[in-house]
Amino acid sequence: MNNFNFYSPTEFVFGKGRENDCGEYVKKYGGSKVLIVYGGQSAVKSGLLDRVKASLEKNGIEYYAIGGVKPNPRDTLVYQGIDIARKEGLDFILAVGGGSVIDTSKAIAIGVRYEGDFWDFYSGKHATKALPVGTVLTIAAAGSEGSGDSVITKEDGMLKRGTGSDALRPKFSVMNPELTQTLPAYQTACGATDIMAHVFERYFTNTKEVEITDRLCEAVLMTMVKETPRVIADPDNYEARANIMWAGTVAHTNLVGVGREQDWNSHGIEHELSALYDCAHGAGLAVIMPAWMDFVYKHNVMRFAQMATRVFGCAMDFENPENTAVAGIKAFRMFLHGIGMPINFEELGAKEEDIPALVDKFGLGDGRTGGFVKLSSEDIAEIYKIAAHATL
Ligand code: NZQ
Ligand code: ZN
Repeated sequence: MNNFNFYSPTEFVFGKGRENDCGEYVKKYGGSKVLIVYGGQSAVKSGLLDRVKASLEKNGIEYYAIGGVKPNPRDTLVYQGIDIARKEGLDFILAVGGGSVIDTSKAIAIGVRYEGDFWDFYSGKHATKALPVGTVLTIAAAGSEGSGDSVITKEDGMLKRGTGSDALRPKFSVMNPELTQTLPAYQTACGATDIMAHVFERYFTNTKEVEITDRLCEAVLMTMVKETPRVIADPDNYEARANIMWAGTVAHTNLVGVGREQDWNSHGIEHELSALYDCAHGAGLAVIMPAWMDFVYKHNVMRFAQMATRVFGCAMDFENPENTAVAGIKAFRMFLHGIGMPINFEELGAKEEDIPALVDKFGLGDGRTGGFVKLSSEDIAEIYKIAAHATL
């Protein structure tokens, strides 16, 4: 096992009705003048935003609000948020929504404490200071409620880029699984796919003797395999929603990834799809992740066979483990298809003729990237091609 630090300071406030306490948590973490950040309509329609405001008022906390965060959140709204926060002297950012809202809030939080352009942090600069951020999560997916990451798209050129810093880890995250019951099935499935992808990015590693994190990864994956079809069939199933919501956080605080080399190429390759086509990140991953698996499984057939038997219950072919590895990838695709995810370019709305542009925007040039298998630009083009033509 590799040396590691594990720092996950977020206070998770989990369960029914907990959004009504968010004012107390803002106060606990030093907020007195708050910027509430929210998305399109879901938090307004469900009455969540009003409940959050009522909780702030009850605790004597002044607030301003900025809405309209789009999925694949844009830099333009971040600049507006930074302006409001500076002008009004705000000291806390409260995200009410999903990964896009939380990532926008984090970007505002670092931007306010920085004299230059906040985009510098999404072009390689490391953030060390940020306003405190709290979240009220409404979708189990990105894991941003417990991560130090933020992903923003620069509208000029549609460049989707991320940044990561412990300074961005939320002070607290309110997680009421009931809030996710209003999600359309498609968004629930996109979220589930993203959660599984966060685990797979860590599961496929060259680090030896990491039994504890292997088993934690498998626990999260098996939970998702069991619970996702349950919520698709029965959206109001609180217990299944609760298991998925906590799985989403566990998948991405890095608890399941410490001490091991991680990959993350599928995420990089997907981000170019959601930047170009504005598709949901989870849907893009449903197309890319199995294609990446097809391309790399020969690098460690036994690890893929382990995933196949332990996560998807495939029978082990001891004579030819490659059959088991391939069966596991097929089982993953079948699972994704079964929950309503696209599995190829056509179903996603992507075009094969855009592959050279996608590779170009990825920007690897003659280099190589990734942890499990180091990919070249040609390899990435090949993965897009596999994704374009994938079948069940
Ligand atoms: O805008 P509203 O009206 O709220 O609608 C949203 C949006 O259309 C809707 N929604 C959210 N909660 C709802 C709801 N609809 C009904 N009921 C609810 N309770 O769902 C749609 C998607 O929301 P979004 O926030 O975009 O979803 P998600 O959480 O999947 O976030 C995706 C973004 O996170 C990034 C992705 O790249 C993408 O930009 N990621 C962030 C990461 C991080 N910060 O750690 C890691 C991830 O790998 C990922 O890259
Ligand atoms: Zn993701």
